[in-house]
Amino acid sequence: MNTIIENLDEKNKIKSLEKAAELIKNGSVVAFPTETVYGLGANGLDEEACKKIFDVKRRKRDNPLILHVTNEDMVKNLSSEITEDQKKLMDNLWPGPLTIIFKKSDKVNDVVSCGGDTVAIRNPSDEIARFLIDKSGCPIAAPSANKSGRPSPTNAQDVYSDMQGEIEMILDGGSCNIGIESTVVDLTEKPYTILRPGFYTKEDLEEYLDEVVYDKSLIDSNTIPKSPGQKYKHYAPKTKLIVIKGNMDNIQNYVDNLGINTDEIGFILTEETAENVNFENVKIISKRNDYLNFAHNIFTYLRELDKFNYKLLICEGVNEQKMGISIMNRLKKSCANNIKVI
Ligand code: TXA
Ligand code: MG
Repeated sequence: MNTIIENLDEKNKIKSLEKAAELIKNGSVVAFPTETVYGLGANGLDEEACKKIFDVKRRKRDNPLILHVTNEDMVKNLSSEITEDQKKLMDNLWPGPLTIIFKKSDKVNDVVSCGGDTVAIRNPSDEIARFLIDKSGCPIAAPSANKSGRPSPTNAQDVYSDMQGEIEMILDGGSCNIGIESTVVDLTEKPYTILRPGFYTKEDLEEYLDEVVYDKSLIDSNTIPKSPGQKYKHYAPKTKLIVIKGNMDNIQNYVDNLGINTDEIGFILTEETAENVNFENVKIISKRNDYLNFAHNIFTYLRELDKFNYKLLICEGVNEQKMGISIMNRLKKSCANNIKVI
């Protein structure tokens, strides 16, 4: 299969989106941009189409999909009830990078829900994603558009490198604004639980809800996660990765003692750290406390550095506060918990 990357500049936009919607209606899989990461989309009401997502992504069949919608009527159709608190988050934080778990209706097929009685729904803010959902006339089931286990793609080229030859079309909407996946929150039972941290933190959700907790597995890595997807190996570059935390004044010394030539190591560092070291291959990710830019660049840079066949990648970690929790959640998985405190 030939994979086409559709250019979405003003001249081609409507025509390309119409072509993509036709493919979705006909049961094909199309990759598309959202404000978080690129999604691998298919008609969420078509079981056979949803099965194709699992096949091309090599995704385990027990890991349910998010349904993407653009309005409340679609949520009413897919859920058996909308509680007051669910409505509060929908009204205040949608459209945006938040996935809410609902009790599912019988419209949601078993391929999407993996046989469970809940459904994950997200109303994305990205204009291209919205247009595609509306033109297709159905909820779009979409996981991140990476092969299972790989870092999520934040631009069309990164989707292409994982999905080349396996899907018909990638809509090229440029680089994703946020760069890490949506916050997933389960509001079907109390205590309300963040299953996956993202752009929105516990504090953000607690502006609208009494109490929200992080799933235990996010705090204690020996606990089995409540969300199926969180238990799998994730976001890993092919090159071995170490995440470094602590006093960055010690990083030069730490690296000099690793016994690897520094020109064979790729680094992802904050501006403040990069100023004080003498390494060859450094990508500056953001200022140290600028978690928005850190999140925006992290998957992109991990994929970029992975192309050079370095012996090792080293990435600076962040403090686990607010969005730093979401960033460290992705980094811990990317490095398989290989974190060094210096
Ligand atoms: O930002 C995002 O959420 C992106 C874009 C494309 O929208 N999508 C995404 O999907 O990250 P995916 O499949 O890579 O991650 C969805 C996560 C998985 O961990 C999955 O297990 C969990 O949400 N999930 C889906 N349905 C669920 C459900 N009914 N109950 C609990 N967790 C669920
Ligand atoms: Mg994913």
